[in-house]
Amino acid sequence: MNSIDLQGRVAVITGGASGIGLETALRFLSSGARVALWDLNEDQGRKLIGQNSGLSFYRVDVNDDQSVDAAAAATANDFGRIDILVNSAGVGNIRHTVAGYPVDGWRRIIDINLTGTFLCCRAVVPYMLQTNYGRIINISSVAGKEGPQFASAYAASKAGVIGLTKSLAKELLDTDIRVNTITPAAVETALFHEMSEESQKASKGRIPLGRLGQPAEVAAMIAWLASEECSFSTGAVFDLSGGKATY
Ligand SMILES: NC(=O)c1ccc[n+]([C@@H]2O[C@H](COP(=O)([O-])OP(=O)(O)OC[C@H]3O[C@@H](n4cnc5c(N)ncnc54)[C@H](O)[C@@H]3O)[C@@H](O)[C@H]2O)c1
Repeated sequence: MNSIDLQGRVAVITGGASGIGLETALRFLSSGARVALWDLNEDQGRKLIGQNSGLSFYRVDVNDDQSVDAAAAATANDFGRIDILVNSAGVGNIRHTVAGYPVDGWRRIIDINLTGTFLCCRAVVPYMLQTNYGRIINISSVAGKEGPQFASAYAASKAGVIGLTKSLAKELLDTDIRVNTITPAAVETALFHEMSEESQKASKGRIPLGRLGQPAEVAAMIAWLASEECSFSTGAVFDLSGGKATY
């Protein structure tokens, strides 16, 4: 593993109790950062902080602005600063045609994946502006670029994350806050295994490298994007799709 220097940095990772967020938290800890996990899953969060020094847990619903604002204030108060934000909280697709899509299912996916990312950026950026430094990494998906069949809500939520990332990056050009997004193809996590067998098989079959991505491979890219060395990239979309993405 390459060493990435995050010594002294304070990172917020939403969805940090599982999958890509958790793997990223562990990678950040081994790089010297202190990490605040923001997640709904309190049992898992409490278990993790018992096992790893340098980790703190805040029960947060990323889709609730009051919950997010309170967590940002508590984290800044507890650690004295926030340098890094990784927006990894998210839910997967439910497989439907657009005409057959349940409206509440559509809203839930957009609310958590897109509005949740907006609310966390909105709450954390003011703390980054206090030090004029920050690195924000939003987790989109290759689905947001490609729009897979029967995945309209998920694809729209992730395309929205790309647009939000580009727009926020431009707002912050006169600061040392960089805002980027990554677009993984299928990664072996709980979210992937919650999909139907049919969807799992189809997703895996569309990856040219012929295998799923591993959370550690995603965390490795996020760790660099979270570092000071990521200084000349902002509003950018980084591919992690095993050769799948065509742009
Ligand atoms: N696994 C994949 O194949 C894949 C591919 C591309 C992109 N992604 C994206 O990566 C991100 C992480 O996914 P993962 O695979 O690690 O999933 P995961 O299910 O392992 O982890 C998601 C975490 O988000 C938390 N969460 C869900 N709703 C929340 C809410 N309202 N408030 C706070 N926390 C909430 C869950 O409790 C969980 O800990 C998601 O945004 C997902 O869309 C995943």
